[in-house]
Amino acid sequence: MNVQELQSTARSLVADGRGILAADESTGTIKRRFDDIGVENSLENRRRYRELLFRTPDINRYVSGVILFDETLRQAAANGDLFTAVLNHQGMIPGIKVDAGAHPLPNFPDETITEGLDRLSGRLQEYRALGARFAKWRAVLSVSDTLPSRTAMESNAELLGRYAALCQANDLVPIVEPEVLMDGTHTLERAQEVTGVTLATVFERLDAHHVHLEGIILKPNMVLSGYERRPAASAAAVATATLQCLRRHVPCAVPGIAFLSGGQSELASTLHLNEMNLQQALPWKLSFSFGRALQQSALAAWRGHEANVPAAQAAFAKRARLNSLACNGRYVPSLEHAAP
Ligand code: 13P
Repeated sequence: MNVQELQSTARSLVADGRGILAADESTGTIKRRFDDIGVENSLENRRRYRELLFRTPDINRYVSGVILFDETLRQAAANGDLFTAVLNHQGMIPGIKVDAGAHPLPNFPDETITEGLDRLSGRLQEYRALGARFAKWRAVLSVSDTLPSRTAMESNAELLGRYAALCQANDLVPIVEPEVLMDGTHTLERAQEVTGVTLATVFERLDAHHVHLEGIILKPNMVLSGYERRPAASAAAVATATLQCLRRHVPCAVPGIAFLSGGQSELASTLHLNEMNLQQALPWKLSFSFGRALQQSALAAWRGHEANVPAAQAAFAKRARLNSLACNGRYVPSLEHAAP
């Protein structure tokens, strides 16, 4: 394990107000995004769309690294350059989603366990050789009055611990993603309670597996009231609950926390990130690792047409820039209407 390199990669991912683009949608997930804009989910359309994102001019001012799906890590741009080379040339670090998705947890209705640990070590070696410098594994937990179960929480946390240790043994920075879902009618307090226990359980397992905390990035959910709950918690309440939760459960050895957006609107994700970064003296960098909240406008502007590529790139660059400002507490909603 090259501890120096792990630490330096982890720090770079959250340095200078930059964050991560999650472009690692599986073939099934990208189909849903393409269906919304009437684009066929073909290999070539996936390639064209990812190339549009990666070649956005000056995007490395706001985006430090990109999480790729297996297919994209092996894919080349139109001119034949591998996407990993394109990203490196653009000043962004290539990363790779290594989990095999969330699958039903037997005997626990409505709960999942993330698969993908079998033969992971060999795959990590290959990914590193292909140019990846960091990895991602997503565990998913649902919230209700009775969920998540202890079994779902502990099983998923154990897998995150084993995954993270394997990544570091293969010189890849693990992004540790325990996602507490935002769907439901639960209160903000319930979301905070579940997120708190989840983080405590995850860090206990990272410790048990001797994971080097200075060489990871945590990718948690923000703490929100459930999407179906009315009235929804305010941005200030979300920031207070999320920060209290993180302060209580995330060791300060962790260099960065890069939030998932989890189905929030682009605006809400940016606003919430900014609200948290208004606080002084946080022990870790607070940044973004958004999928939907970085790509929604870009997808809507693109719609599969070559002529729309500049408009889609402008939409993506705008979201990335506003989120970068939010990393420094310098975002204001009026910027949404300013010229790109
Ligand atoms: P969202 O920001 O769309 O939640 O996606 C982030 C991600 O990588 C989920 O694993």
